[in-house]
Amino acid sequence: MVEKSAKAAEAVAAKDVQRCIVSSCGGVFGLRERIYVCPRCGGPLEIESRYEPPGGLAALRRLWDVRAGSRDPRDISGVWRYRELLPFEDSAPFVTLFEGNTPLYDAWRCAEYCGLLGLRLKHQGCNPTGSFKDTGMTAAITQAVLLGARTVICASTGNTAASLAAYAARADLQAAILVPHGQITAAKLAQSMDYGAVICELDGNFDDCMRLIQELGDDPEIYVANSINPFRIEGQKTVAFELMHQLGWNVPDHIVVPGGNMGNSSALGKGFAELLSLGLIDRLPKLSVIQAEGSAPLAALFAGLDQNAAADVSKIPDTIRMVDNPRTLATAIKIGSPVSWQKALRAVLRSHGQIIAVSEQEIADAKAMIGRDGIGCEPASATTVAGIRNLVAGGQIQRDENVVAVLTGHVLKDPDYVSQYHRGTLALDSGTGNKTPISGSFRNAPERVAPTKSAILQSLERRR
Ligand code: F0G
Repeated sequence: MVEKSAKAAEAVAAKDVQRCIVSSCGGVFGLRERIYVCPRCGGPLEIESRYEPPGGLAALRRLWDVRAGSRDPRDISGVWRYRELLPFEDSAPFVTLFEGNTPLYDAWRCAEYCGLLGLRLKHQGCNPTGSFKDTGMTAAITQAVLLGARTVICASTGNTAASLAAYAARADLQAAILVPHGQITAAKLAQSMDYGAVICELDGNFDDCMRLIQELGDDPEIYVANSINPFRIEGQKTVAFELMHQLGWNVPDHIVVPGGNMGNSSALGKGFAELLSLGLIDRLPKLSVIQAEGSAPLAALFAGLDQNAAADVSKIPDTIRMVDNPRTLATAIKIGSPVSWQKALRAVLRSHGQIIAVSEQEIADAKAMIGRDGIGCEPASATTVAGIRNLVAGGQIQRDENVVAVLTGHVLKDPDYVSQYHRGTLALDSGTGNKTPISGSFRNAPERVAPTKSAILQSLERRR
């Protein structure tokens, strides 16, 4: 049966297309056309799938259950396990590091902190390079191999770069990364060095790097792997499949994600929409996106929308006011001009979710709380718990609702931040040379202790 279903997937994948999401255009293009935006109108592209499970939904679920125990590399990967819903033929040269398969944790302290009865954290930081980017990169690099690219490239705040570098190394492609000089964490940069990427540190910010990427994408030997690339989104949407699989196909009330360039929220929205249209779930969870206050163009736009009219997706505005000098210590989401804002906004509106911003202090404290649950994450991921706390206080999330937050990066991605928070030295540069201190509300600094048993016991006693 596995064999038969794979053949069916192959036949159907050939019918998938790339479609422009701008409703007045709707341009349709083949899967193997090397394009990132609509060649007709410049609008964002999306893969449109027409998959219908030949043996029915129950058989498809069973197939995915069986694969979870298989030794085939494509089944071990938490992305390719769901390949019926991906735009690749079964014979594709899958480039995998066995991404996905990330844990879903109960977080009791965080739940209490947010005012909820329960809260679950889906930890995408447990991917091979320590961030959610791997689930998209496995698809983008597989597509690069299919297209015969020599070099793969991305602009990055650090995680996309590390992921691209690793997957390119696996596929024996040259990797090039454009990063804003001095603005990405040492740990992320170290990963890219180790995986052998050509690292271009540019004067400017992430948005400047992203503008250059759009120019470099014209080169026929270079393949762009930013989330503007619809194949990246295809890989990343599988987190919705894996999550629902873990939850026994019971839909949570809310899914909450951080927002930067908006690829992740777009991908999750697409994943859930596909599950709904296939009939694998019976409703959409409300998708909410949380930005850092100093880098929150989409939260600002959302706050200005007429909330009654907002449910009408066709009324999505054409333009957004970008943030020229984004500021946040959550460097992963220090982005003022997100490329996928339209897709993300559409997904949030369709599901009746929210887009809000949280302060640096709220992010820092939420991050420490996630740490206290024994889970840990990088600062950008903690916007979720900070945002949920505000949404509960504002009545948009009810105390007894079922909520899942997606943590996007590993705690070791930014150890300096962690250490400064706990030592009480964390501060945000205001851009004018002034520093705004972030207090370590849940500080846990190391202390010097005399090397004796009694001194150690006294220290323990003091902290009980
Ligand atoms: N969390 C982490 C840890 C990230 O690295 C990013 C984005 C986001 C959240 C936001 O996700 O962009 O899909 O909305 N990092 C990108 C990078 C920009 O280059 O690594 P998004």
